[in-house]
Amino acid sequence: MLDKLNDIEKSALESLDAITDQAALDAWRISTLGRSSPLMSVFAEFGKLSKEEKPVIGVAANRVKVALEAALAERAQAVKNAALAKSLEEEKLDVTLPGRTKHIGRLHPSTQQLRRVLAILAEMGFQVYTSREVETDEMNFQMLNFPLHHPARDMQDTFFVEAGDRGDNPILMRTHTSPGQIRAMREAVATNPQNPPPIRIALPGMCFRYEQITARSEIQFNQVEGLAVGKNITFADLKGTIADFVRRMFGEGARLRFRASYFPFTEPSAEVDVECFVCGGKGCQVCKNSGWLEILGCGMVHPVVLQNGGYDPKIYSGFAWGMGPERQLMLRNKINDIRYFWGNDVRFLEQF
Ligand code: DAH
Repeated sequence: MLDKLNDIEKSALESLDAITDQAALDAWRISTLGRSSPLMSVFAEFGKLSKEEKPVIGVAANRVKVALEAALAERAQAVKNAALAKSLEEEKLDVTLPGRTKHIGRLHPSTQQLRRVLAILAEMGFQVYTSREVETDEMNFQMLNFPLHHPARDMQDTFFVEAGDRGDNPILMRTHTSPGQIRAMREAVATNPQNPPPIRIALPGMCFRYEQITARSEIQFNQVEGLAVGKNITFADLKGTIADFVRRMFGEGARLRFRASYFPFTEPSAEVDVECFVCGGKGCQVCKNSGWLEILGCGMVHPVVLQNGGYDPKIYSGFAWGMGPERQLMLRNKINDIRYFWGNDVRFLEQF
């Protein structure tokens, strides 16, 4: 019986040694320590042993059982370690490889500039009013005092949108943000027709012109229109507001000048120049040796335009301006080609 126990132990340990995976371990456990294993049959037949044999065989059988259980636990740990080592080997990371750069998005330079402009205007009390990009001829031109066939229309070549024959009022892509003036005034008047409220708004947005695309002109660009309407508003208010804006935008020391100009929707009209920030006014290529850079058009709202907006020009007056954020960025950063803005070249965009 003792020999049998020794044989069971020896052969079990031998076969255990060859095991390298969990399934074989399970099978080994069942065949070696399971209920119908040879070792267990020794325990089952224990009762048949003589009084003298019992303690000897009992001690020996228990020793074998404990030894085999210990061997199993040890082997199980080894199998587990081997599996772990293998998976680590397979999933090996080369931590010395340089990582892949994640490109983080950013706001388009035009949007950044638009926001700068609007933030300054907000501080100055101008509320944002957005108006439609697709307009009628009536809003884009006629209500702004461009009569039909007026030569001033030639300054703003137009994309027409086909939508049936609308006679003298075709649908078009707005050529400037100025039609928003009419819409804003009419909306304000509608809130109180007897006594319309004063207006102080900034109108940002995309404008479209049917032009040859060159380094200096694009078929689309942003504008920020300003409009103030109320009682006793004078040209002095216009000058003060523009001067304040220019200093907040281009720096406390920025010098500016007003030049008489013409727009159908303002009277009088002016264009505003700032001293060239490239040469400081001495004259250079950017300012074409004039020392000045034009940044916006402005004027006192024409009585006809006030009337079209629903404000009585005998009681109300106002001023307006229009400026281009892309143009400001070009001047500021010496960008010599406007096509970069919509060219979507990240090498350009990443610089802002
Ligand atoms: N709408 C003009 C343009 O696109 C810019 C402009 C000039 C707007 C004078 C104004 C203004 O409101 O008063 O060329």
